[in-house]
Amino acid sequence: MEPLFAFIGGGNMGRALAGGLVASGHSPSRIRVADVSEACRLACAAIHGVMVTDDNLAACAGADVVVLAVKPQQLREVCVALAPVVGPSTLFLSIAAGITLAHLEAWLGDGRAIVRAMPNTPAQIGCGAAALCANGAVSNTQHALAESLLASVGVAQWLDDERLMDAVTALSGSGPAYVFLLLELLEQAGTELGLPAALSRKLALATVEGSARLASASSDEPATLRRQVTSPGGTTEKALQSFNDADLAGIVLRALTAARDRGRELAAQVPY
Ligand SMILES: NC(=O)c1ccc[n+]([C@@H]2O[C@H](COP(=O)([O-])OP(=O)(O)OC[C@H]3O[C@@H](n4cnc5c(N)ncnc54)[C@H](OP(=O)(O)O)[C@@H]3O)[C@@H](O)[C@H]2O)c1
Repeated sequence: MEPLFAFIGGGNMGRALAGGLVASGHSPSRIRVADVSEACRLACAAIHGVMVTDDNLAACAGADVVVLAVKPQQLREVCVALAPVVGPSTLFLSIAAGITLAHLEAWLGDGRAIVRAMPNTPAQIGCGAAALCANGAVSNTQHALAESLLASVGVAQWLDDERLMDAVTALSGSGPAYVFLLLELLEQAGTELGLPAALSRKLALATVEGSARLASASSDEPATLRRQVTSPGGTTEKALQSFNDADLAGIVLRALTAARDRGRELAAQVPY
């Protein structure tokens, strides 16, 4: 029998993950999505043909995996309501930013199988990057189920040390925003140099997408690919020198460190 997935929260991420399951061949009749928002329920049902409900407890009845996809500040209340009614063999998989396995164990009760994951928004088009970590109660079958869910919308990597989840959040969780910023800046600079705005955007987008795909397809390191574009004394070298003079490496490291530290701060503020 195919596993039964229940999603609590069918917003951006819940919908993306439910869609990934359907796209990877999972039967929509084995996916339930519970959401307080009628608009979200309608969207999930229309796009993926999955079962939808406004009743979290009913959605979880008999589920093999309960995916917790509400906002972090809504999660405690959701978990406390589910804990007495969800059976002991169900895997809980949380994608809430900054909510630790210890929080989830406190809210769901001892002995629960729990996976914490950090996906990112490109999961919406099947190009996500996610890290996962599990508590000691997760079985091999549940490990595989959790991984297959995240892998259905992109790259999925396990972490042995949960503390690294803050670094993952800083790199790939928040990362799409950095790439969008780079796109904006490339477009703006192109326009400043006289290109029409529409052309500047088109070239910037195609360059970022093409470079990422080339790096992904190539066996060469990104540094090698960079050197291949950089002729001595040429135009690219001038631009890269300008980035170096501004300490771009230091800027990026400081930005990710700030994001990592903020993640730690926010997690420390969540009450048990
Ligand atoms: N978006 C990202 O970049 C990203 C990346 C990684 C992880 N995450 C995590 O993914 C989770 C979901 O994020 P999202 O962007 O998908 O949020 P979202 O679009 O707001 O989706 C959450 C959905 O849950 C509904 N909801 C609220 N309370 C509920 C309850 N008690 N029972 C059932 N449904 C309820 C919300 O309805 P209302 O809108 O009416 O409240 C909303 O439709 C968050 O915990 C976030 O930290 C997000």
